[in-house]
Amino acid sequence: MNDEIRIDISRAKATAVGKEHGITPDDLAGIEGRILAAHEILQAERAQQKYGFYDLYKDTAVLDAVKAAAQSFLAGGCENLVVLGIGGSALGTIALNTALNPPYYNQLSRAGRRGYPRLFVMDNIDPMTFRAMMKLCPAKKTVFNAISKSGETAETMSQLMIVVEELEKKLGKAAVKEHLVVTTSPRVEGAPKSLMHPVADEYGLTTFAIPLNVGGRFSVFSPVGLFPAAMLGMDLDALAAGCAAMDARCSRASLLENPAYLRAAVQYLMDTKKGKDMTVMMPYADGLRDVADWYRQLWAESLGKLTDLDGNEVYAGQTPIKALGATDQHSQVQLYREGPNNKIFTILEVSRFDKSLRIPATLGAVPELEYLRNKTMNKLMAAELQGTVDALKVSKRPVMQITLPRVNAHTVAQLLYLFEVETAMAGRLYNVNAFNQPGVEEGKRIARKLMGGKG
Ligand code: PA5
Repeated sequence: MNDEIRIDISRAKATAVGKEHGITPDDLAGIEGRILAAHEILQAERAQQKYGFYDLYKDTAVLDAVKAAAQSFLAGGCENLVVLGIGGSALGTIALNTALNPPYYNQLSRAGRRGYPRLFVMDNIDPMTFRAMMKLCPAKKTVFNAISKSGETAETMSQLMIVVEELEKKLGKAAVKEHLVVTTSPRVEGAPKSLMHPVADEYGLTTFAIPLNVGGRFSVFSPVGLFPAAMLGMDLDALAAGCAAMDARCSRASLLENPAYLRAAVQYLMDTKKGKDMTVMMPYADGLRDVADWYRQLWAESLGKLTDLDGNEVYAGQTPIKALGATDQHSQVQLYREGPNNKIFTILEVSRFDKSLRIPATLGAVPELEYLRNKTMNKLMAAELQGTVDALKVSKRPVMQITLPRVNAHTVAQLLYLFEVETAMAGRLYNVNAFNQPGVEEGKRIARKLMGGKG
């Protein structure tokens, strides 16, 4: 099975869109040395285990533990899995679910879901939504997975408090552990303590650890993403194999042969040399729409930084935008083609959808529709994609393309892993810390204070 995803930057080159907007051989030659130096640093820091995300997929003990726990919770006959978490604790699961489960998954019968539970990801604190979820997910038939690396995020902790009270009230204290799993930082001497630890102790909860060297938005291949994935019957081994395949490609000390480095270089050059301070990700497949959302957080939170690693004020970052083909051709593409030429585009293409749909030879009274008759929706989608990239080229808008042979656990894992390494490399190019988020922490601190807690 050749499920290797393909990365093509040819339409982001000067040969496609001109020197002002496209990458020249000189641009690439000029950045190659920095890429190779950054590679040495990243690999050395990886070896020192400074960044855990690279090697999560290799941890078979975690994979086995997650699978075993999921099996035991599924044996209880749960109908709903509710993830309580925000940001990096939620977006990976949403992306995996949209990509790897069938459309309208929650609306399918139990058989349609192959016996696996429905999924609700509560990544906000809107009381209307949370109340509605609690009604749809009765305690007895639901497993809740509260996820917080810091174990103190007010949004997630407030959700947890509501859920624990409900479980205790409806099922009794002893049964809480059959319906609640927590995923948080490990109990390590000297590390900040998660407020979820005492809760886990009191109720005897199954607990998964997020390694200290893995940040929220880089945690999809830790138990943060893997436990929900196992609960939904996803193929964890195929996910790990996809990561391994992309790791092999993204470990190359080469600008042109390493797809993550090539993409990072193009994005960085586009932002800093070609005035493209926005990056649009536009999948042409509904299943990948939330990959664009996940990437949006990864890119924004990792690279949007006030200061660089030397302490200079730099206001770094490129604004990520998510779009969807063909839908947004009728919303955004007018701006993308004729508005300011300040964007680089990543088009995600799927070579083969799992299903095909023929457009029937109907509406005979309308001869103008002949071009659609007996074609497939698949072919129309491909034509829309081609139409957009060709039209963007005419308007001198740079485009990178990523092609997935199909959408499955193996290819989606490759894609997410690619973007994680790309982001790590981009952090080095911008000379910022891609792994912290002081801007987010400050907002959390102020909100806690406003609620009467410690600032
Ligand atoms: O990527 C990040 O670090 C953030 O988006 C966090 O995931 C988010 O703020 C939630 O934090 P926590 O997992 O500590 O509750």
